[in-house]
Amino acid sequence: MQISQPPIPKYLKQDELTQECEDLISTLPIETGWVTANFYKYQGFWHPVRHLQGIISCQKHFQSQHNDILLVTTPKSGTTWLKSILFALMNRTKFSISKKNHPLLSNNPHVLVPFLEVKLYLENENPDLSLIKSPRLFSTHMPYVSLPRSVHDSQCKIVYLCRNPKDALISLWFFANKLRLEEMGTISLELAFDKFCAGVIMYGPFWDHVLGYWYESLKNPDKVFFLKYEDMKEKPNLYLKKLAEFLECPFSLKEEKEKVVEGILDISSFEKLSNLKVNKEGKLPSGENCSAFFRKGEVGDWKNYLTKEMVEHLDKICKEKLHGSGLDF
Ligand code: A3P
Repeated sequence: MQISQPPIPKYLKQDELTQECEDLISTLPIETGWVTANFYKYQGFWHPVRHLQGIISCQKHFQSQHNDILLVTTPKSGTTWLKSILFALMNRTKFSISKKNHPLLSNNPHVLVPFLEVKLYLENENPDLSLIKSPRLFSTHMPYVSLPRSVHDSQCKIVYLCRNPKDALISLWFFANKLRLEEMGTISLELAFDKFCAGVIMYGPFWDHVLGYWYESLKNPDKVFFLKYEDMKEKPNLYLKKLAEFLECPFSLKEEKEKVVEGILDISSFEKLSNLKVNKEGKLPSGENCSAFFRKGEVGDWKNYLTKEMVEHLDKICKEKLHGSGLDF
């Protein structure tokens, strides 16, 4: 009897590329990937080929509207968390936070706030977004230099989230090993560390990504809100209120009295989301288990994994790269 192989998850597929993408990758620098076979360097950043396909379609076709909200993150910086917070925040009139049938209780946040290049423009070169009600909420990991022209030209708002690079590295290392097929084996922490330091990660180099949005947030604070995972963890109420003000939908006194701020933070909390059936047992249409997006949700877990030498080396790189920017982690 022939044993049938399980299908390859979509996120590992490298076929079905447009001719334009095939032509492009033949000209780009190449490196070994973490989950997929290869990364290609496009506009200064490393991408698996599927993401690259999504990026070039998005650059060509995405038309931003003036009241769109774009959540931009570095991978593993708490994208899932901020998606749930932004969804609950922007839809708080439509979906009361105390309702038993709130969409966040039965949908993974990645379904409610779709990625541009990793979902919409990957599945369809020019998707019809006309049915999405405004304000539209999208997310992306695209670096600043790669954002579609219309994002710069429109008055849409950008919420940028990043995280201490040592925690981002550990989170990424666990995530990549969860996504790799069994026959691929695991990536060692030593290899992951070297690649991270060399900038060879999804949407890396990390520092270039962060600095692109950091400088833009200084130049244009009404357009780009720059947020760190650690700050959101430490003072969630404060930063949620700041987010609401930035997005021009501040909480009213009545809402504050009714504890809407606390309600949004509660429904988006790690404890709540990670224990929902949909997030424990569900899968994204692209094949990832939803549970892969929830691990510890803590600050400082790197202390349990990185050696003293690794910490010194990464701190030194971080200091050099961020020198003079006013940004630190
Ligand atoms: P850890 O691996 O350190 O636990 P992303 O959503 O960008 O892929 O990031 C995933 C990281 O965010 C993981 O970090 C995950 O556990 C954490 N995370 C997921 N949901 C969270 C939540 N509601 N609150 C805080 N952290 C969360």
